[in-house]
Formats: sequence, structure tokens, C-alpha cells
Amino acid sequence: MLCRSADLMAEAHASGSGIAAFNVITLEHVQAVADAAERTGRPAIVQISQNAVRHYGGDVMPLAAATAAAATRGRARLALHLDHVEDTGLLHRTAECGASSVMFDASRLGDEENIAATRAAARWAHDHGLFVEAELGEIGGKGSAHDPGVRTDPKEAARFVAETGVDALAVAVGSSHAMVSRTAQLNLELISRIRREVPVPLVLHGSSGVPHPTLRAAVEHGMTKINIGTLLNVAFTRAVREVLAEGPDLVDPRRYLAPARAAMTDTIADCLTALAPPGSS
Ligand code: G3H
Ligand code: ZN
Repeated sequence: MLCRSADLMAEAHASGSGIAAFNVITLEHVQAVADAAERTGRPAIVQISQNAVRHYGGDVMPLAAATAAAATRGRARLALHLDHVEDTGLLHRTAECGASSVMFDASRLGDEENIAATRAAARWAHDHGLFVEAELGEIGGKGSAHDPGVRTDPKEAARFVAETGVDALAVAVGSSHAMVSRTAQLNLELISRIRREVPVPLVLHGSSGVPHPTLRAAVEHGMTKINIGTLLNVAFTRAVREVLAEGPDLVDPRRYLAPARAAMTDTIADCLTALAPPGSS
């Protein structure tokens, strides 16, 4: 069932549970999220990043249409989100591609330019019925909030939300993008402090590097949306490598894509189970 991100976010925010958001690249990723959500009975957000769109020649429609179709046909509650959108051309395709939310990412700009660009993006998105996530860049300068070592200041975060009108805020509390080991340590006390200052749901990026118990603790301290991408690709690529190593003459992609999809499904199901509220399964 294709749901609206705003509803899944509101439900998770109100109940204090986390909502996992998985970055998809191939149709196998999409099917793996749908299958895992159905298996666990947990909702999920399927997200397509601007980088993934670039991989398909800049056209969001093929992957977005496949995601919307898979969600509409299945029983699992899934929403479609566009992630790390820097290009306003892509922002303006959010509604027509079936997504109900977008992360507008102007965090590489200086703070004041980020605020102005994000405010304009949020106004456009709200006029089109969309839910908007954004992120604050490194305090006082350039660089992503998810670069290693960067941390979100709670008061700056509150000001950013008030001045831009965004519906959710990505914050930097210790995770960083594209980690292939689960060794990130989060500042849980900082999550609590940001939670107290910021009235909208908080988003953790780079969650692949965070162990499941820490993700659970992050939700308990006030995090709502948990973005996971690299973990799926680690499972996908490991499965493909194993199959190809055993069958060097193999040429049918289905012979390695099926195990890759199955491996991602198990990985996603583990994440969904780890983030489920206690006593919900
Ligand atoms: O926006 C996407 C996420 O932040 C995913 O990050 O690939 O490090 O899990 P990750
Ligand atoms: Zn991210």
C-alpha cells in the first residue's frame, strides 16, 4: 500500500518508535524493502537519492514508478521519498513521480544561503502537498552536517527549523555516510537536547555504520527517521561476489540478483525488527 511519508512520520513521532528509510538503487532493492516490510509487518520509507537518479541518466521516473507500483500492489505500508535533492529541477518532480516527501539538501551552502534556499524549497513543497526534510550545514561554514566530526548545535537547529518551516530535520550526532563497519558512536545526550529544542521529527543519516542497539537507543532519545543505504549494498555485493566466485562461467543475471535480493531482504527485515517498538512483534 502506497502511504504518505507525513503519515508514517507522524505515527512514528507520536508513538516514539522509529521509521526506517532505505535508499534504493535497483528494482531488487525496491522488492527487498517491500518483501521485508511485508515479512515483519512494519512500515518503511523507500527513498531515491539524487545520486541514484543521476545513475539513471537524470530521470527519476523509471525507479520511482517501479517503487510506486510495488508499493501499491503489496500489503506493506510504504512511502516514497526523494533523498539529498540539491537540484531544484528534481525537487519540482517530487509530486509527479509519486513521492510524498523530499529531503532538500542545501547544506553545502553557507548557513544564511542554506536557510534562504531551504525556505523557498519548503514553500514550494508545501504548496504541492509535500513533506519536507532538510539539514543544517556545518556551523558557520561549508560542508555537510554528516561529515565526520560535525555535530548539530540544538539552538542553531531550532532557529533553522523556525526560519525555514521544514517538517523534519537531519541532524549530526556521530554517524557519517557510507560506513561499511558498524562502529559509529552516537551522542545520545545530544539527541535528547536537540529533541527538546526542535519541534519537528529528527532524522539520522548514515545509519549503516550504527549498531542496531545504538539505533534503538537513538530512537528512545528522540530520533524518528533512520536512513539506511550502504548496509543494503554491502549485503547485495557480498551475495553477488559469492555466487560469481562459485560460478565463474555464469552469465544469467538472475542467478546472482536473486541471492542479492534475498540477502538485502534479510538485512532490511533485521533493521525493521530492531526498530520496532518493544512488544510490537
Ligand atoms: O540519506 C541516506 C542515508 O544517510 C544513508 O546513509 O548509506 O551511510 O546508510 P548510509
Ligand atoms: Zn544521507
